[in-house]
Amino acid sequence: MITRPKGTYDIYGKDALIFEYVNTVCENFAHLYNYNLMRTPVFESSELFHRSVGETSDIVTKETYDFKDRSDRNLTLRPEGTAGVVRSVIENKLYGNKNDAIKLFYNETVYRYERPQAGRNREFTQFGIECFNSFETVSDTEVISIGYQILKSLGIDVTVHINSLGDIESRKNYTKTLVDYFTPRIGELCEDCQNRLKTNPLRILDCKYDKDNEILKNAPKMTDYLNDASKERFNDILKQLDILDIDYEVDPNIVRGLDYYDHTVFEYIDEKGITVGGGGRYNGLVESLGGPSVPAVGFGFGLERIVIDLKESNTFDDIADDYEGNVEVYVMSVSEEEKLHALEIAQNLRLNGVSCEFNNCNLSLKSQFKIADKLKAKQLIILNNEDLQKGLVNVKDNATKEEKKIDESEIVEYIIGVL
Ligand code: HAM
Repeated sequence: MITRPKGTYDIYGKDALIFEYVNTVCENFAHLYNYNLMRTPVFESSELFHRSVGETSDIVTKETYDFKDRSDRNLTLRPEGTAGVVRSVIENKLYGNKNDAIKLFYNETVYRYERPQAGRNREFTQFGIECFNSFETVSDTEVISIGYQILKSLGIDVTVHINSLGDIESRKNYTKTLVDYFTPRIGELCEDCQNRLKTNPLRILDCKYDKDNEILKNAPKMTDYLNDASKERFNDILKQLDILDIDYEVDPNIVRGLDYYDHTVFEYIDEKGITVGGGGRYNGLVESLGGPSVPAVGFGFGLERIVIDLKESNTFDDIADDYEGNVEVYVMSVSEEEKLHALEIAQNLRLNGVSCEFNNCNLSLKSQFKIADKLKAKQLIILNNEDLQKGLVNVKDNATKEEKKIDESEIVEYIIGVL
């Protein structure tokens, strides 16, 4: 038997219904906030991710799926959604009218070669939004609030853990302070962090391995090293989050695992302490990938983690019931002649917006009644040769059990009228 690759999964049954529900909620919210869909390739040139996510980031050093195609090009399966969107915005010159914000969302699979465990897969789905062209603090707040409201409407309680990495000047000062702090203590850090001290000291702060180490807990805090302009920005955003009633916590250890962020960084952390999404501002990324200087901010959710939360909540069965493949009408037939009429009636109903199913497995009438009940059909159209010859069909209300004979040519109007 050929099995699925490690770290991947099949989605079916109730999980698929929950996924469909989560997708619908996310996409509806994106439209409510005036975001438009963007699709980018599942693989891009490797250079794109190296230059955006960061050469020294865990993602690029340990987790990307890199391969050469038959023409020897270096390609990488996308490990996240932002870089591809930025590449596309530059390549298609979407930033054209700089007066207006460009608001894009995506819902796509991404790939990271991580050690698989619950909520950590090698193929997973990111729903994300990216807003370009605005450095107004209200766009940071709006972006944070979209994710928060989506999770709230799904019934998932999260706290937004927020921090500011400040501008380049603030970050330079802070990085120097961190290096001075960690250098004499280097022996007490994990091997990865010892390397990070040379390559990217900020990343020591969100090390998964060292996170409970007292040295990290007592490290100087970024928020104490913001210059006045960066501090003012950050405080304005916090005030706006208060106005929108968003539950947040300033968390100096949020630095994020990707190198492109500046100023605001945040994560949505659920009641179990799991990060279901994260994002932030990345004002330098468009320019560093060859575009003009365009400010940007966004976030990404891991949809599988949201599905896990919903599965553990008591709303799971209700959501699944609502999304189960129910139909409004079931058309019953046994003989070949009846089956042809069933095929045509089902098509006419469906083309008129009525969901319906018919006997497409040569079932007995008894089995068809059972399936109609399982599908929660409200009306049953029970065909028989005798009635059909007179141009009639039998319709049964599956709740009251009342039956009527209706002219076959008027069946669609009749069903629409009684549903
Ligand atoms: P990220 O924090 O790397 O950010 O990923 C976003 C979310 O993807 C995480 O919060 C988590 O829920 C989910 N996730 C990450 N790794 C896995 C995994 N192995 N299995 C399942 N879920 C996972 C980004 O990717 C940024 N592009 C977000 C962003 C958008 N920033 C600005 N715009």
